[in-house]
Amino acid sequence: MADAESLIGAALAHDSARKHVTGEALYIDDLPEPPGLLHAVLVLSSEAHAAITAIDLTAARALLGRDGIAVTASDIPGRNDVGPMSGPEPILAAGLVEYIGQPIVAIAAPTLKAARAAAKLVRISYERREAVLDIETALAREMFVSPPHRMQRGDAAAALARAPLRLAGELTIGGQDHFYLEGQVAMAVPQESGEMLVWSSTQHPTEIQKMVARVLGLPYAAVTAQVRRMGGGFGGKETQPAIFACVAAVLARLSARPVKLRLDRDDDMMITGKRHDFHIRWEVGYDGSGRLLALEMRLAARAGHVADLSPAIVDRAMFHALNCYFVPDVAVAGYACKTHTQSNTAFRGFGGPQGMLAAEDMIDAVARALGTDAIEIRRLNYLAPGRDTTHYHQPVEDFILPEITDQLLAAAEYAARRRTIAAFNAASTNVKRGLGFAPVMFGISFTTTMFNQAGALVHVYTDGSVQLNHGGTEMGQGLFQKIAQIVAASFAIDVAAVRLQATDTSKVPNTSATAASSGTDLNGAAAEDACRQIKTRLAEFGARLHGGAAGAVVFRDGRVTGDRWSFTFAELVAQAYRARVQLSAAGFYATPKIHYDRATASGRPFFYFAYGAALCEAEIDVATGESRMLRADLLHDVGRSINPAIDLGQIEGGFMQGLGWLTCEELVFDRDGRLRTHAPSTYKIPTARDLPADFRVRILESAGNREPTIHRSKAVGEPPLMLANAAWLAIKDAIAAARGGGAVRLDAPATPEAILRAVTHHPENVVSQKPRP
Ligand code: MTE
Ligand code: HPA
Ligand code: MOS
Repeated sequence: MADAESLIGAALAHDSARKHVTGEALYIDDLPEPPGLLHAVLVLSSEAHAAITAIDLTAARALLGRDGIAVTASDIPGRNDVGPMSGPEPILAAGLVEYIGQPIVAIAAPTLKAARAAAKLVRISYERREAVLDIETALAREMFVSPPHRMQRGDAAAALARAPLRLAGELTIGGQDHFYLEGQVAMAVPQESGEMLVWSSTQHPTEIQKMVARVLGLPYAAVTAQVRRMGGGFGGKETQPAIFACVAAVLARLSARPVKLRLDRDDDMMITGKRHDFHIRWEVGYDGSGRLLALEMRLAARAGHVADLSPAIVDRAMFHALNCYFVPDVAVAGYACKTHTQSNTAFRGFGGPQGMLAAEDMIDAVARALGTDAIEIRRLNYLAPGRDTTHYHQPVEDFILPEITDQLLAAAEYAARRRTIAAFNAASTNVKRGLGFAPVMFGISFTTTMFNQAGALVHVYTDGSVQLNHGGTEMGQGLFQKIAQIVAASFAIDVAAVRLQATDTSKVPNTSATAASSGTDLNGAAAEDACRQIKTRLAEFGARLHGGAAGAVVFRDGRVTGDRWSFTFAELVAQAYRARVQLSAAGFYATPKIHYDRATASGRPFFYFAYGAALCEAEIDVATGESRMLRADLLHDVGRSINPAIDLGQIEGGFMQGLGWLTCEELVFDRDGRLRTHAPSTYKIPTARDLPADFRVRILESAGNREPTIHRSKAVGEPPLMLANAAWLAIKDAIAAARGGGAVRLDAPATPEAILRAVTHHPENVVSQKPRP
């Protein structure tokens, strides 16, 4: 069956599922190596903040001889700047280093071994300067990578002063390494007339095209960037691949040879930025029933040495700092702090998870102060559609969390399990259990409105087979499979007739990053636009040749049928070719309705919201601080699913990645600013053993997105990560049981050490019940 009814919503396997496990899937390091290829390595800074006083390449160059090349910032032909929002963000340090791990020298040689041997001979002299490594110091010195920003409604200070009850708290939230299985890699191949072809493991080929052009001093049109797939991106390949692609391109230009730069894991972790760690303070005013009246929140993120995407990430944290709750008077302040560390970057959720966790921390504290079930406080303060606006003044139109909450709690038998757990805890001293519930409301669209556009290029060949090009990139999330289903459904042909092409800036230009979870919304709609154009031409041609009205022509089950005529898709396509009808089309899509004025922090930045909720049950060992998830129930809204198998995978994977962030993944820096956890031996990502023992994941039954997205589906890539907030809240609940009730301060990640601290320390210092003024 090949029509929209059967293909949209079909749980088909990922197009590369088999290839991923057999090894047939080609990643950049698997591509055939062009003759004369040089392999590159980088020499990294050993200082967090220092002037470079000398770089001695004599010994390295002597070893390399004529076969290799060693370059520094001063050899870059164009601009040494890959800053995506505000520059300059150097690819190789020029005179100044600003973090331990910053690339200074790039070396290429015929073998990796030779390149590494030469790298060891590079001598760099520094004049040390004072390094600022943490958020507090940067805040105190007002060191920011972008100006502080505010979002507000009403008068939060006055409303706080008036509120019958007040509570203040603070929270530190750790960062997270992307730990994509395929590390950063690029291969640059010089072409005729000084042009450059770059293969890059990137979520954003257009950014690679632009940045390579910039560092080489070329027009954009002289550079082509390509990627078939990434072995994971998770936001870590939205901007950061530019450094490696540009270094490879500079080496290729200067050596006139193809150059590949593939980082090993330690270098990857030392060089690249991660999820932003945050320090958050909040003060909330409420009444005796638990209704929130006023909120002041300060979100401060460690941006690292340059801006990268940090301003937009802090914005998204601020957008999500109230999650799904209504507070009449609010002031949210955001700070992107400059520190002498890696430049932190996009990571699944893009700041949203950190903001949302602060909201949940605040609600949890209010509930504990009142001695009320936190779920009741949540329900009481849920936004009301038609009545409320968000704190950035977007009207709330659809809001389905009350139904999701009811469904999830019923399916998970919340009330009965509360009682069972209370009884368990009363009888157990060393092991305690807790329940955590977290709702998720995540805004879908790039908050930089112009990025919400996409293109596609669809070719139909004369045998009826189809090549599909679009601006999105595949990183494991199943984007290509979903768009193949959209295209096959549109033509009503078999999905096997649709061939997926590598993403290529020469096929579809001026693309946005595949990010903000909007890959299918944007590129799927653009691909369908291209199909629609071709179908219109075929229908008009068929009606002209065989009779009837073009408007009455239907595409169904591999056939095109008009008034008293019917052909297979391939037959009609062949006829159309002979009649000189164009069988290729470029499609385009721009998200409607959205607008945002950052100066006044108001507008409609999001086309719609994705919703979900989770209930987790945690167990902690009070003596060791170890924790595990006994059960997790997830209910998540994907609108009308294009492919429920892929969506389910995204929900499960997103939750597990969130669980890693909040429980076991910990980045440790030493006093000099050196990242000490730069390999899997010291940085622990969750494994199959960390899955909740009882893991129940469901997609919400839905009539579809109320906004007219492609097939009424909803974005799914990032939102489920935040379902893991429920796991953190469950651990907090178990800690409260261990403490015998009252306030709890738990910083993230909830490692065994953090849990032990939370069990024993006095939260009055940080969570304070304020007296009336
Ligand atoms: N899933 C896999 N398997 N690998 C990834 O790298 N990245 C996530 C999410 N899911 C990622 C993933 C992130 S950060 C985003 S923004 C979306 O996928 C991007 O793809 P989409 O817009 O097509 O959902
Ligand atoms: N999300 C993800 N990536 C982005 C965004 C966003 O809102 N804005 C710019 N890059
Ligand atoms: Mo995802 S953090 O928007 O790449």
